[in-house]
Amino acid sequence: MTTGRFIALEGGEGAGKSTQARLLAEALRGKGLDVVTTREPGGTAGAEAIRTLLLNGVEGDGGESWNPRAEALLFAAARSDHVHRLIRPALARGAWVICDRYFDSSRAYQGGGGGLSDADISTLHAIGSEGLLPDLTLLVEVSPSIAVERLALRDTEGSDRIGGRDRAYHARVAGAFAAFAETEPARFARIDGNGNPQETHALILAALAPLLS
Ligand code: TMP
Repeated sequence: MTTGRFIALEGGEGAGKSTQARLLAEALRGKGLDVVTTREPGGTAGAEAIRTLLLNGVEGDGGESWNPRAEALLFAAARSDHVHRLIRPALARGAWVICDRYFDSSRAYQGGGGGLSDADISTLHAIGSEGLLPDLTLLVEVSPSIAVERLALRDTEGSDRIGGRDRAYHARVAGAFAAFAETEPARFARIDGNGNPQETHALILAALAPLLS
């Protein structure tokens, strides 16, 4: 049996993570590996239901819906179900799990963006998911102007509750991601996502080479 590996893709809005998750899954399947693609928030029926709540908010409450701590708990609850029902069983049978966003999104958005401490976010993760971390986290970074162009093509019907937060919030998110990659280089690979999808895909395959040999 092959050893299962857990790969997360992270980055701000419009970084191209979903396209890269798909291309990576196709490449790994081409090598004969059992690959599961999934996303956060979501991935299981229970977590997808929490995703709908988190991204749409509650009608008629003026837009906030939850205070920052409640929001962080909801993300941790969705992740707990996802880890328990999908990610751990897949890894246990030797599959590769490719996850579009994971724990570092909570650190960057609810922490860097929303002001919760990194220690608090880690505590929620320890309680919800026993602190499970990916083998490698691919941080896809794009310039703000390219992200805006891509979002204009993608979000033709407007952005969701979190994507629609102001520029200052998203700048804090990007700064937080960059800081994590700098302080934990063994856990992160920084990927330049400014090129076309195939160029970015090639950078991702190069970053994964040590795990594939
Ligand atoms: P996306 O999957 O389309 O990128 O949308 C998910 C949104 O949720 C995105 O704005 C990032 C945000 N998010 C958090 O704020 N915290 C988290 O822990 C995760 C997984 C996502």
